[in-house]
Amino acid sequence: MKKIFENNKKWVEQKLNEDKDYFNKLALGQEPRYLFIGCSDSRVPANEITGTGPGEMFVHRNIANMVVHTDMNLLSVLQYAVEVLKVKVVIVCGHYGCGGVAAAAGNKQYGLIDNWLRNIKDVIRLHEKEFLAIDDEEARLRRLVELNVIEQVHNLSKTSIIQNAMQTDEPPKLYGLVYDIKEGYLKDLNALENDGSIKRYEHIYSLLQS
Ligand code: CO
Repeated sequence: MKKIFENNKKWVEQKLNEDKDYFNKLALGQEPRYLFIGCSDSRVPANEITGTGPGEMFVHRNIANMVVHTDMNLLSVLQYAVEVLKVKVVIVCGHYGCGGVAAAAGNKQYGLIDNWLRNIKDVIRLHEKEFLAIDDEEARLRRLVELNVIEQVHNLSKTSIIQNAMQTDEPPKLYGLVYDIKEGYLKDLNALENDGSIKRYEHIYSLLQS
């Protein structure tokens, strides 16, 4: 822990050298433009890969960047970010080489975390045909990472918080991104249609509404 405190002290000194009011300004409040929902993986630091500093990005991270409708932690973050902070953009960001996604694809037991990752098995089941058509194992896992992000953006769009926000004058834009740990680049998965909807499911919902 000694290293952590030393680093912190150096960082404070550096920030104050650049702007002596740096912390006073931050203490006045936050007005972040983005909400970032990412994986807890230590190699995917939200601020660093997006070039955002303190005050610019509200962040929620969990294993395999999941949007689970019974997760009070995520829902609270989302509600506060969208309704109180009024973020303009909500990002779900996955990453290639995600251990959580790989664990969900296999049959090995890891303990409590298996219950959390159980939701990813549904993603596999939903896209069974596509997975069966990919021969290479690494390519299959990469696609699962992408499809997991797309499904989580879908889950996000179906939360009551986002549904209500969509009725307001300035609804937040939703994005599904994937981060490539080997290269450092972010890629937009175009998880939503241009008008912000996920059309491929709408026909099913409308069928059930009659
Ligand atoms: Co991960």
